Amino acid sequence: MARLYLYFSGTGNTKFAVETFANKLEENPNIHSIEEELDYDTLIQSADSVLIGYPIYGSDIPIIMRDFLVMHLSAFQKKTILTLATQMLFSGDGGGLACYFLKPANVKCIASMHINLPENISDIKLFKLRTVEESQKVYEKAMRKIDRYVELVQAGKPVKTGRRFYSRALGFLMQRAYFRPFHKVMQRAWTLNEETCIACGICVKNCPVSNLELKDKLVISQDQCVLCYRCVNLCPKQSIKILGRKFPTRQYFKK
Ligand SMILES: Cc1cc2nc3c(=O)[nH]c(=O)nc-3n(C[C@H](O)[C@H](O)[C@H](O)COP(=O)(O)O)c2cc1C
Repeated sequence: MARLYLYFSGTGNTKFAVETFANKLEENPNIHSIEEELDYDTLIQSADSVLIGYPIYGSDIPIIMRDFLVMHLSAFQKKTILTLATQMLFSGDGGGLACYFLKPANVKCIASMHINLPENISDIKLFKLRTVEESQKVYEKAMRKIDRYVELVQAGKPVKTGRRFYSRALGFLMQRAYFRPFHKVMQRAWTLNEETCIACGICVKNCPVSNLELKDKLVISQDQCVLCYRCVNLCPKQSIKILGRKFPTRQYFKK
């Protein structure tokens, strides 16, 4: 069976989860980040089934992944779909979202999965970043969950995490209803600490949507931020914040 794995990962959690899941499920899995320049219509059409991996932002699917699904909707026609959403704590229906977006393509969603991994929002005090040891425990728990999901998929059993009515209601009422209307405002929230920035260009080079530009030794945002937090967590001087009030003092732990 030709299975294709496509993911978007802002800071590495989803990449880790998709690669771990895929390598446990089969030998030499065909995995791609949607940031790669590829002929996706052909890739998707030639696959029997497609796994879609993405992080959760405010109980929602990242706009970069939503736009990708919409752009390639016709290639997904009648495909068998698996989804894998990574999150810090809770999303309600995060795993179901890609299935809902692909519904017009008459897809068959056989598995939707949630994996909790260390939080990446390092500029928000409320979400205290875990220590390396605490993060290690979260990873170990995630590994056990991935093993369980692999067993279920191998056994051909449906996995419906985030696709039941109450999950959808919780995802919407607890977060999406408030997060979505402010999306445009949040896209403009990207802030640079001009005093500490060393204009190294790491953020510019790594932004998945080329939102950042280096001009006269200053990084400028074009207000198209997709909130992935990659730049915040890569900045060697912790000079970037997005949704938080203060610049981060610690960064996300990478495995
Ligand atoms: C803007 C933003 C919003 C987030 N919202 C949620 C959320 O609603 N629920 C949750 O459990 N985690 C939330 N998270 C945490 C991420 O989903 C989590 O850290 C994810 O694993 C990151 O994946 P990545 O490293 O592949 O980008 C949010 C992260 C960001 C950056």
